[in-house]
Amino acid sequence: MAFIYDEPSHTFSEYLLLPGYTSAEHIPNQVSLKAPLCRFKKGDTPRLSVNIPLTSAVMQAVSNDTLAIALAQEGGISFIFGSQSIENQADMVRRVKKHKAGFVTSDSNLRPEDTLAHVLSLRQKTGHSTMAVTDDGGPNGKLLGIVTSRDYRLSRTPRDMQVKDFMTPFKDLIVGREDTTLPMANDLIWKHKLNQLPIIDKDGHLLYLIFRKDYDTNKDNPLELLDDRKRYICGAGINTRDYEDRIPALVEAGADALVIDSSEGFSEWQARTLQWAREHYGNDVIIGAGNVVDAEGFRFLADAGADFVKVGIGGGSICITREQKGIGRGQATAVIEVAEARQKYYEETGIYIPICSDGGIVYDYHITLALAMGADFVMLGRYFARFDESPSNKVHIGNSYMKEYWGEGSARARNWQRYDMGGDGKLSFEEGVDSYVPYAGALKDNVQLSLSKIRSTMCNCGAMSIQELQDKAKLTLVSATSIVEGGAHDVTLRNTDMDGSNHL
Ligand code: IMP
Repeated sequence: MAFIYDEPSHTFSEYLLLPGYTSAEHIPNQVSLKAPLCRFKKGDTPRLSVNIPLTSAVMQAVSNDTLAIALAQEGGISFIFGSQSIENQADMVRRVKKHKAGFVTSDSNLRPEDTLAHVLSLRQKTGHSTMAVTDDGGPNGKLLGIVTSRDYRLSRTPRDMQVKDFMTPFKDLIVGREDTTLPMANDLIWKHKLNQLPIIDKDGHLLYLIFRKDYDTNKDNPLELLDDRKRYICGAGINTRDYEDRIPALVEAGADALVIDSSEGFSEWQARTLQWAREHYGNDVIIGAGNVVDAEGFRFLADAGADFVKVGIGGGSICITREQKGIGRGQATAVIEVAEARQKYYEETGIYIPICSDGGIVYDYHITLALAMGADFVMLGRYFARFDESPSNKVHIGNSYMKEYWGEGSARARNWQRYDMGGDGKLSFEEGVDSYVPYAGALKDNVQLSLSKIRSTMCNCGAMSIQELQDKAKLTLVSATSIVEGGAHDVTLRNTDMDGSNHL
């Protein structure tokens, strides 16, 4: 006979935290949000930790190299989407690893024979007025000069004049060398009143540009997540089909952590993938698995060697898995049960396996609840899709700006490997939708605001770390009526969005 749970499964909005004792030492900006990203033995230090418990979803509309850099600057990690060719995904990882804070690969480049007309059209396309002139017109060609809007007069310079005749030539440029650090570059920029400083290698090839305006932003990332060579930490998604080719390419590109991206992780396919990774890389590769929603699924992946286990089926904002297939579980209940299983595993084996609550975060406080329930970190799709740095288009709809956001199981992403059951690799129905989310500006501003709420709630609970929150948190289910009481009620709001929402 089927097993039927006595209790319904619950989601985050049905829970609240009760405050604990707050002492004068509970100061929000001193709360640590550090979380382990891989399994470790009792008493050992994890090989990889994040400085903030936020990871970005393995999705086309969310995690590319631009978002990965922005999130690493804040202290979190992105998992670059895997529903693209191995080559493209590895290139994205490589770009994150090559990116040096404040050092920008020139994106507007000219050949000396290009004309002013070309300069103007490039400027319109990229929005950038500083352009590097290189022998091959590429970002790493031999640097011959720089063109900025100070080098031509729109009303006078003929449109067919060639770049070499009006650029600032190399001999007149102040440049930095390979060993120039950001503070050194800043000194040069101030001393010579420059707007940008090109950095070249010993053969005169352009490596990067450093802009005056970026300096302040880049020195202001106290939690940035760096490897031991001071490069940004970056993750990537893999699947259970082409892992023998994809894992080596991603490792070679410098990925710091991988995750098997699947809607359902309690499967032989995931165990095989983990086994292959361990046989070929031992513990040199950090590899998470999932998704599961109960103790049995967790135990299976823990025994199979997963470094962390991702929890959640059917709760994602763009997800229609529950409607299509009738599988899933309320996200809060899933996290609570898996966290209990993790604790049992830890007591039995002395090995701690971090868990990640994936999907269904709508309000900032849901993150705090997930952590209190036992998640070490969360994975977010919709949240990050709204920011400037996500790869999707920003569109104007009605009176607002929106960003496109689509599920990996939608016809648009066609990521059938995520739903692969080892058959012919095709699926006949979708498990995700194609949608819009309200545009919300820069990642940094939004993440900092969310984290300030999390830290503040943690202080209310008397916790200065995630571990302490998990040990001390008192959570209560709330009745349907008290959920209504939780929002503004029985008043007429003076400033409400047209749809009545004030979601993230
Ligand atoms: P969100 O943060 O609520 O938007 O959820 C993001 C999560 O939804 C991802 O990390 C995935 O686990 C999951 N997901 C992504 N695409 C799909 C889909 O097409 N169908 C179902 N779940 C999806």
